[in-house]
Amino acid sequence: MEGVNTVRRPIDLRAKVGRLQLDSPFMLASGILGNEHSLIMRAYRAGASAVVTKTVFNNARNGYTPPIYFENEYYALNAVGLPGSGVEHFSEELALVKEESKPLIASVGGTSPEEFSGVAQRVIDAGADAVELNLSCPHVAGTGSEIGSKPDLVKEVVLAVRDALPRALIFAKLTPNTHDIGELGKAAVEGGADGLTAVNTLRGTGFDVTLRAPLLSHGYGGVSGHALHPVALYAVQNLRTVLPDTPIIGVGGVYSIEDALEFFIAGADAVQIGTAIRKRGLKIFGELRDDLATRLRNARASDFLKFKKELRI
Ligand SMILES: Cc1cc2nc3c(=O)[nH]c(=O)nc-3n(C[C@H](O)[C@H](O)[C@H](O)COP(=O)(O)O)c2cc1C
Repeated sequence: MEGVNTVRRPIDLRAKVGRLQLDSPFMLASGILGNEHSLIMRAYRAGASAVVTKTVFNNARNGYTPPIYFENEYYALNAVGLPGSGVEHFSEELALVKEESKPLIASVGGTSPEEFSGVAQRVIDAGADAVELNLSCPHVAGTGSEIGSKPDLVKEVVLAVRDALPRALIFAKLTPNTHDIGELGKAAVEGGADGLTAVNTLRGTGFDVTLRAPLLSHGYGGVSGHALHPVALYAVQNLRTVLPDTPIIGVGGVYSIEDALEFFIAGADAVQIGTAIRKRGLKIFGELRDDLATRLRNARASDFLKFKKELRI
């Protein structure tokens, strides 16, 4: 029809989390797929802009015995126990995905600053583009939120990793199991973190009423999915208030484009998707990209970064 422009304007979905350049704001969260290179490649091909691996420790670790996962329509509860084959085997898998042009972020675990910095060094040497320090798993003794709920320990761990890797891109993944997540974020940034990931799971439990037994063999675990979403949004908003210029990745209960937009309104630069993959499969990445492009078109915007700036309140 004359006078009607039927040509669709190109939409630029690129996102930036500090120095981390992404082809969209939708990343895969840690621990959702295994660390085999074939699974990592599947996530990229499905449209994830970056992959965060399952948390890696120096040595191989056994997880907990089943049951380790429970899910209903409101939330998931997991206590997998951070199993893994150790950093040496992980580095071999990493070598097989190194040619991928999208960022690979290795989730690093440890029970001491030395273990965190040693593993971080190994994964960066093996080709990871960044590290995300797991200072937040709520159900494994001696690591995760046991360290990450204390600001002085958060700072000590991040400082050790920064000392070992002066130029590496370091994200600290924070726990919502705290009175003041802002203090944890500030401690991580003082230690030298480039950015923050908020949040890991919230400690919780549930029972089988017939068996009168916990749903998980460990007795308790971490809550993720829809129920975590408002908790994670508050964490991001609080961190954005106390750290106006720090790159922040939001994670917790993203199932739809509305969930993601809420994170951008709260101040996140990108989001990670975890539990929703069980329900919607890896195709969620392509669907979120399409939905974001539609939102931009409807708002007569052509560029996610500008669109996001205008969303902030
Ligand atoms: C089964 C399962 C395993 C997880 N493993 C890890 C892990 O190894 N390291 C980590 O930092 N977070 C881990 N998480 C936490 C997620 O990365 C994410 O922070 C959390 O699930 C909230 O996001 P979601 O609601 O989109 O799942 C795991 C979560 C689930 C459900």
